[in-house]
Amino acid sequence: MTSHSQSQTHLYTLPPYPKFSPTTKSAEEAKMEQQQTLRHDTVAPEDDDAPTLSSHALEALKEFLAEQNRSGATREEEEGTGEPAVELVSEDWRLSQFWYDQTTAETVAREVITLCRDDSAAGCTVDSRRVACIACPTLYAYIKKIDPSLSVQLLEYDERFERYGSDFTFYDYNQPEELPAELKHGFQVVVADPPYLSKECLEKVAETVSFLARPGPSNSNLLLLTGEVQKERAAELLGLHPCGFRPQHSSKLGNEFRLFTNYNPGARLGGWEVER
Ligand SMILES: C[S@@+](CC[C@H](N)C(=O)[O-])C[C@H]1O[C@@H](n2cnc3c(N)ncnc32)[C@H](O)[C@@H]1O
Repeated sequence: MTSHSQSQTHLYTLPPYPKFSPTTKSAEEAKMEQQQTLRHDTVAPEDDDAPTLSSHALEALKEFLAEQNRSGATREEEEGTGEPAVELVSEDWRLSQFWYDQTTAETVAREVITLCRDDSAAGCTVDSRRVACIACPTLYAYIKKIDPSLSVQLLEYDERFERYGSDFTFYDYNQPEELPAELKHGFQVVVADPPYLSKECLEKVAETVSFLARPGPSNSNLLLLTGEVQKERAAELLGLHPCGFRPQHSSKLGNEFRLFTNYNPGARLGGWEVER
């Protein structure tokens, strides 16, 4: 893991907790991070002077861990359907991991599948129906669950997703084009959910999106899930506009979240909001 992303300003907020900011951690945040590190069975930071928690902080920590458990490793059964689980690893908030809730994951997965079907109807070969998921592992899992025949590549920093075999490509947005050559301009649909809400992060992820997408008139369908605060940048960098559909997460985030696309989805996704 690079120190780069560790020092990145983390702007996703999780009520009732304050903003995550690894550079300006409060004692309580540091403690929560330590607890979480332990929960994931990774190496605990050496911290002989660990602060003690107030009863209020302890309650908050318990709630935090309970929420973590709720969004844990497996969604055992799709709500009310009895359908088999979509397996997810536990969220690691140090990596800015906030998984979509089921409705969001299914809605976006079905949109991606619709785009691929439209594309094949237009005469594209099966091979061209390739989807790239940049830093959105939940979406990858749901697409594959709904349509296992679809070719989907997950570009992710968290190596726990190596479990997806050759569908996994290690990706660090700090090296936006350090990717296998065979991925270049190879995808009809590219979906991204950058880990941070900074200008720098979106600019770099936009470079990756351009690397993966097809250039020119038959250009790719692009979808970006990120904070409302990125609206102007998303339009400038990639020609994306927000849809009415509001993505939600299993852990409720304080930030307003949007889905941006470079195409008009018509009646799907709550329509397209383009300011004139
Ligand atoms: C905001 S989450 C998006 C996850 C999405 N909501 C989902 O449910 O699949 C950001 C993702 O970026 C990944 N990430 C963290 N650091 C990264 C880095 N340096 N480069 C690329 N991706 C990174 C995290 O592992 C996480 O999956």
